[in-house]
Amino acid sequence: MDANLAAALATPFTLDANPGRAAATFPDLAGSLDVAAMDAAQAVISGWSGYVPTPLHDLPEIADHLGVGQVVYKDEAARFGLGSFKALGGAYAVAALARQIEAQGGSTAELTVATATDGNHGRSVAWGAARAGCAAKIYIHAHVSQAREDAMAAFGAEVIRIDGNYEASLAACKQDAAAHGWQIVSDTSWPGYHEVPLTVMAGYTVMSREILAQLGGVPSHAMLPVGVGGLAAGIIAPLWQAAGSSLGHMIAVESHMSACMRDSLVAGTPTLVDITEETLMAGLSCGEVSDLAWDILKPTVSHCVTIGDEAVAPLMRWFHHRTDAIEAGECSTSGLAALLAMHADGAAWEQLEMTPDSVVLLVGTEGATDPDFYRRTVGIA
Ligand SMILES: Cc1ncc(COP(=O)(O)O)c(C=O)c1O
Repeated sequence: MDANLAAALATPFTLDANPGRAAATFPDLAGSLDVAAMDAAQAVISGWSGYVPTPLHDLPEIADHLGVGQVVYKDEAARFGLGSFKALGGAYAVAALARQIEAQGGSTAELTVATATDGNHGRSVAWGAARAGCAAKIYIHAHVSQAREDAMAAFGAEVIRIDGNYEASLAACKQDAAAHGWQIVSDTSWPGYHEVPLTVMAGYTVMSREILAQLGGVPSHAMLPVGVGGLAAGIIAPLWQAAGSSLGHMIAVESHMSACMRDSLVAGTPTLVDITEETLMAGLSCGEVSDLAWDILKPTVSHCVTIGDEAVAPLMRWFHHRTDAIEAGECSTSGLAALLAMHADGAAWEQLEMTPDSVVLLVGTEGATDPDFYRRTVGIA
């Protein structure tokens, strides 16, 4: 077996079933990710210049190793040239705000959008602000790399670095936005703040609808990287709408260092995690679930897996050096790492009810969003 894949087999993991999973039909509730919100996002985003569905790659060597029917990898590395699926969310929310202002006879030049980010969401907001002709203030925490900061500044955003973790950057963003009348464009929601993050998640559903079209059906298993849960909710909503109460195994994947979804699902209520150590999978480093995402994930997630960083570098190398090379950034390794580790542990694999007919979806949420780290890790100049 390939040495990089072999390294990933030994990744320590935890696996929990979601006690709150309740097989039900898609609720299609207004104010949540309803069909109207998904249709609107698809209509707008598919009309943007440069829109093309991102590739869904087959990984036959992984399917053979696991003894399942098919493993597919949704590859977001090239989404609108921004390097991650986040291009679909923040920029769409900024565009929606700009449309509202114009509909009221105002100018987008009066609008200032603000957000806290680990890098990718901020890049989308900065890009969206540049497209809409408004100002952007982007708050980052102490561990966000210089390359990620530079990418946001390149779109003309003002980037403000906070001494602390993601939650500290969000607190500073909220405080300054309230003081200056800026519009927060967050990818996470909290009580009383739903409209914008709902738009962000609606943008993500475009990716899930692409997957349904590319696959010609609903996967039996999906490995879903989770930070605040917006991505997972955005993927699940269209799958749930399509599959109804026969929705398959939706598996949340988090870092041990920021397992807020696992802790929340096991407790049955949103539960805060104080992040004391940062995972290499920067996009997953969030300590609090989005309450909008929570409403979708609580009844639909079947299992929660947590992993460490052991497989990040080996799997980035494996994706890069396979015959059909794939540019997979740090977060994009999480689903495959969890799958390989659980397969190597027979008991975990049994819990997932994999069969030779299973179709497993992996979500490659980012490409080389930190190009220096990517090059060093995969071993290219
Ligand atoms: C590359 C990447 N993958 C996954 C996630 C997780 O998405 P969410 O926070 O919506 O759960 C993020 C979030 O920043 C990300 O940047």
